[in-house]
Amino acid sequence: MFISFEGIDGSGKSTQLTLLREVLEDRGLRTLTVREPGATVLSEEIRSILLSNKQSITSTAELLLFNAARAQLVERVIVPALERREIVLCDRYSDSTTAYQGYGRQLDLGEVRTCNNIATRGIMPRVTFFIDVPYEAAQQRMSFHTTSGGPDRMERSGPEFFDRVRAGYLEIAAAEPHRFHVIDGVRDRDVIHADIVAVVTAALSTL
Ligand code: ADP
Ligand code: TYD
Repeated sequence: MFISFEGIDGSGKSTQLTLLREVLEDRGLRTLTVREPGATVLSEEIRSILLSNKQSITSTAELLLFNAARAQLVERVIVPALERREIVLCDRYSDSTTAYQGYGRQLDLGEVRTCNNIATRGIMPRVTFFIDVPYEAAQQRMSFHTTSGGPDRMERSGPEFFDRVRAGYLEIAAAEPHRFHVIDGVRDRDVIHADIVAVVTAALSTL
């Protein structure tokens, strides 16, 4: 089973992914956790290019680089893990590209979809959680854990960008209500976790 976590930066995705993984492993299920962009040597190298503040990157180059990292991840890591019947937990997937490059950078949504499909080969999560947190709340959370270096290239995009990304996620979620679960992220992490476990338990029972 393939499960992804989506949301703006600092919404609490990684926290919830880790809490879910612990529950699944306690139940004796085998999981594989990956983050996007990342999880292969090539994808991690592309990640450092994308997040570095050393240079500006055009929106189109950004779209292609995120998807180049994804193509390598899907073919080398995600597909083999699904074939081994592991539960793949993905911190971001192609919905991030639709939300950030499509809605955020305002690239053509049809072109973004085509590009995503080339990278994913149509392999999509069974369940996607959108952890919904307003920009200000997410910023406040990130300021607690910001270490040296400050915000990365994407995080410097500003409030209007992140408002578009969040609105984009809500549109994507509304278009695919069977896959997407919109989770109110402005609550205690244990309460959010309980909602997520309930959804995953129900999905696992249908396998
Ligand atoms: P993301 O992976 O979406 O960037 P993280 O899981 O790293 O977000 O969380 C960002 C910060 O917010 C971390 O410091 C984390 O401990 C904190 N955090 C996560 N969930 C909550 C929550 N429900 N309430 C308050 N703070 C949270
Ligand atoms: P990351 O640190 O993983 O995100 P977060 O701060 O939410 O934990 O950084 C990845 C950044 O790249 C984040 O700003 C979202 C952005 N991104 C895109 O713009 N498009 C994409 O397709 C993906 C996967 C990420």
